[in-house]
This record gives sequence, structure tokens and C-alpha cells, in this order.
Amino acid sequence: MTDVPQPTDGTSIATGPSEEAQLGSTTETGAPAPSDRNSLTVGPDGPIVLHDVHFLNQMAHFNRERIPERNVHAKGSGAFGEFTTTEDVSAYTKAALFQPGTTTEMLARFSTVAGEMGSPDTWRDPRGFALKFYTSEGNYDLVGNNTPVFFIRDTMKFPHFIRSQKRRGGNGLRDNNMQWDFWSLNPESAHQVTYLMGDRGIPKSYRHMNGYGSHTYLWVNEAGDKHWVKYHFHTDQGVEGLTDEDATRIAGEDADFHRRDLYEHIDAGDFPSWTLSVQLMPYDDAKTYRINPFDLTKIWPHSDYPLVKVGTMTLNRNPDNFFAQIEQAAFEPSALVPGIGFSPDKMLLGRAFAYADTHRHRIGPNYLQLPVNRPKVELNTYTQDGPMAYEHRGDEPVYAPNSFGRGYADNVGEVDPGWEADGAMVRQAYTLREDDDDFAQAGTLVRDVWDDEIRGNFVKTVAGHLLGGVEGEVLDRALAYWHRVDADTAKQIEELVRADADLGAPGAQDDAAKEDADDPVVETDT
Ligand code: HEM
Repeated sequence: MTDVPQPTDGTSIATGPSEEAQLGSTTETGAPAPSDRNSLTVGPDGPIVLHDVHFLNQMAHFNRERIPERNVHAKGSGAFGEFTTTEDVSAYTKAALFQPGTTTEMLARFSTVAGEMGSPDTWRDPRGFALKFYTSEGNYDLVGNNTPVFFIRDTMKFPHFIRSQKRRGGNGLRDNNMQWDFWSLNPESAHQVTYLMGDRGIPKSYRHMNGYGSHTYLWVNEAGDKHWVKYHFHTDQGVEGLTDEDATRIAGEDADFHRRDLYEHIDAGDFPSWTLSVQLMPYDDAKTYRINPFDLTKIWPHSDYPLVKVGTMTLNRNPDNFFAQIEQAAFEPSALVPGIGFSPDKMLLGRAFAYADTHRHRIGPNYLQLPVNRPKVELNTYTQDGPMAYEHRGDEPVYAPNSFGRGYADNVGEVDPGWEADGAMVRQAYTLREDDDDFAQAGTLVRDVWDDEIRGNFVKTVAGHLLGGVEGEVLDRALAYWHRVDADTAKQIEELVRADADLGAPGAQDDAAKEDADDPVVETDT
């Protein structure tokens, strides 16, 4: 037995397992470790010496154990699984993973957006729905949310949007006033905010939510025919949400409620699954469709473009190293495969840059060499070296073109998943089309999709949120915003707010402000 120093009060402490039962611990360079209990000191009461290398390595490595958390979507969970294409959609895409009967290994990560790494899973927030398919043609990442739309339609606004939803610079607190200030000044957010404040705003679990690619992508088939496509992953567990009361209680009882649920169900062999369907728009329809089909704040009504089933995703394997497989997982909308392309959606094009860039900062420039991110195909890239570089190709040529048989890519001319664009360079919102309206689809959701119970919950949720510190002109503008969405529910929201709010804030109750609320003046984003 190791000589364990015993307490001086006469009690004794356990010495742990016998030496035979344990592997001896080593230093990081592989030699037997001198001690994991005592640092090296000058006499038992003296100072620690600088050449206690094992101690210094322990401290230094510990100091570097954390990597930066994701700027957004920091709290999340994930699991591995497979996607099987059960239908024949080869008329629309040549992507290998979507050919009939193909099964592809994959990783999913679900997340909240604004909260930090330890924040409760049940805060009201959109949920991330990030998928990585390890296809036979390289990685395909579909980095979506549990909502089919988003708050803004130009990437330029994204950092501003996120700062308004996270913490204030001064007091470090989240701030409803700031959130509504941003939303009400950006009316294109109405559809997504309506969604967020509705019954799907807090999923019961990650298993009980749908996932959407949200953006419009391009599909190209073997013959070169093109369709615009939107992805819908419908949960086979059924969509279920949590009430505000339950979500708040659970946030206090178990901040990891959704992480635990996902892990435990997969661990017990109860594998969650989702059915993938797509909406397909013939390429030329996009030019004349009554709604801009690339505007991320809008859906395509299913009556115009019905769902076409593609296949099933099943999650069946938990991570066994959360850090290496989930925390260091790097999803990027720029990871596309032949047969799938971008669309002119200004959000998607901004994201095509943002993710790989943040991974280089968060994980390191060689993040794609980590097992969870590494494509499961042979790589033949000329990028090399850099921090923590591991993979290399020996003496093969490190330049192209070369005379020694290692490939040289040199596609010229029209690009495969491409589209035409022409015109002067401008900084301008999308050109408005016949039915482009920031509030119309949000109003349809409230009036035609929801029933009385959902509308009732929605009124209480919005009013409660507004009562959580929204004041003055921001409050007036927020109420005006809801009037543009749906007058009836807006009246109910306003009644609750005006009855309960401490409207002592400057300007909040004066007549001019009331007139503004009655006669909304929210500007559109044109
Ligand atoms: C994560 C940027 C819009 C879904 C992230 C991250 C960044 C980012 C920097 C952190 C990634 C990491 O550190 O690993 C942006 C920008 C956007 C945008 C600039 C503006 C255009 C969206 C939209 C969606 C979305 C529209 C969904 C449709 C996600 C998801 C994650 C994420 C699911 C977490 C991925 C994971 O699980 O690792 N985003 N984002 N983002 N974003 Fe976005």
C-alpha cells in the first residue's frame, strides 16, 4: 500500500485500491509519474521547487483544458447515427447520400442559441439542429434549427442580433428591453419571434422537435437539372413542447434536462428518429414566385410546394468522449457535396464564411483532422502544417501542378451547382415581390395554424416577456409590432401589459406613445 498521510485527529482515511489493481500513472512523456498526491517541496513545510516538472505539467495542462465555447449555440448535446435514403429522389439530386437505399453514418448536435455552456436546456430559445453526414463524397453538413425561418435576412445584421440577445456589456445581464429593441426595429423578425413565443418555443426534449435546413439550397441531378430545395426533418416522436411554468421549474431542477433525456433514451436502446422530406421548387419558378424564395424569414407554403419524402435519420450511439466528439465537433454550412449547392440567400452565403472561420479560432486551423470532423474519404488536399498538424503525405508533392502524379484540380467554366447573377454592386434589401410582407406569414401562423389554446398561451408568453423589463418607446414599438402581426391577439397582449406593467419609464404612458401603439409605425426593411 502507498504511504498515505493520515489525519492528525486520530481518524483514518481509505488508501484506495491496492497497487496490483491499478496501472501506475505516468508523466505525459511516458515515464513513471513521481506522485499525483504530493508536490516536490524543500522539506514537508517548505516551498515547491521549479523542477517539479510533473506538477508543472499538470497545472499547465489544466490551465488549457477548456477551449472557447461556441459564440452562439454553446450549450448542446449530440449523438451519432445513420441516415437512410428510403425513396428515389435521384431525379432531383445526384448527391450520393440521397441515392435510393444508401445509408450514411452521421452526427447530430442539438443546442440552445443564446445561453452559455452551462445554461439551462429549457430556456425559451430556438434550438440548433446541426447534422454532419460522413458521405462517400466527403462531409455534408446541414446546420439548421428547429424553426423553418430566422430573425433576419442579411448576414450583416447577425452580430448585432446576437449581441442584443446575449448579455449587456455593462452589467453582464441579459435584457428583454434590448431584445425587443432589436426585434421591433427589425420587423422581418416577426415570423420567427411569433414562432419562438408559440407552443414550439420550448421543446419537451430534443427528441420532440422538428429540424429544418431553413435556407433554400440548390439540388442538381446527374443530367444537370436544377431545383431549389428546403429540408424538413419531422420528428417520429411527435412534436411536443413545455409550458413556461414547467420549463422554469425544470431549469432549476435539472439544467441538463434535454442532454440527459437524449443520452438516456439512446443508452436504453430507444433510438429517436426523424423523417426527412423536402420541398422542391423548379429552378425557373424562383424568378417569378410571389415570395422571394431565398428570404430566410419566409416559408414556402406547402400548398405551392408539397413535401416529398426522402428518408430516415436515426440516432443510435451516444458519445463516449463528450469533449472530443461533441464539444470539438465543427459543423459548417460550407461543407457541401456534389449535387448540392448554395442559393443566393444572403444569410446562407454569410454562413458559408462564418463557420470554418470560427472553428479555426475555437478549435484550431487543423480542426478537420480531429476524428469527429475528419471526412471518411481519402483526402488529397495541398493545405498542410500549422498548429497541431497531424496528417501529412510524406514526400509527395506539396504543390500543384506537379509532374509526379499527384492530382491537380482545374475546373473551368460554368460551375455545377451554380446560378446566374448579374447587376450593379449594391447594398440593398431584396427586391420586394407581390407577397413579400414581414408580418403576413406570422399573422397566418397565429390566425390559421394555431388554435385558441395555443393563441392563449402565446398572448401570455409575449405579455410575460414584455413585462420582464421592456419599457418606454421599445414597449410601444413592440406592441405596435404585434398589431401588425394580428390585431386581436395584439389587443389581448396590450391589455395584459398595460394592466400589469410598471410603466413608470419615461414616455411609456404619455398620450403620444399611446397613439403610436394604436397606429403602428414600424418601418419595413426596404
Ligand atoms: C453555430 C454564425 C445563422 C444554426 C454558429 C456559430 C457561429 C454562427 C459563429 C458557432 C459555431 C461554432 O463555434 O462551432 C452564424 C452566422 C449566421 C448564422 C454568421 C448568420 C447568417 C444561423 C442560422 C441557423 C444557424 C440561420 C439555422 C438555420 C446554427 C447552429 C449552430 C450554429 C445549429 C450550432 C452548430 C453546432 O452544433 O456546433 N453560428 N450563424 N445559424 N448556428 Fe449559426
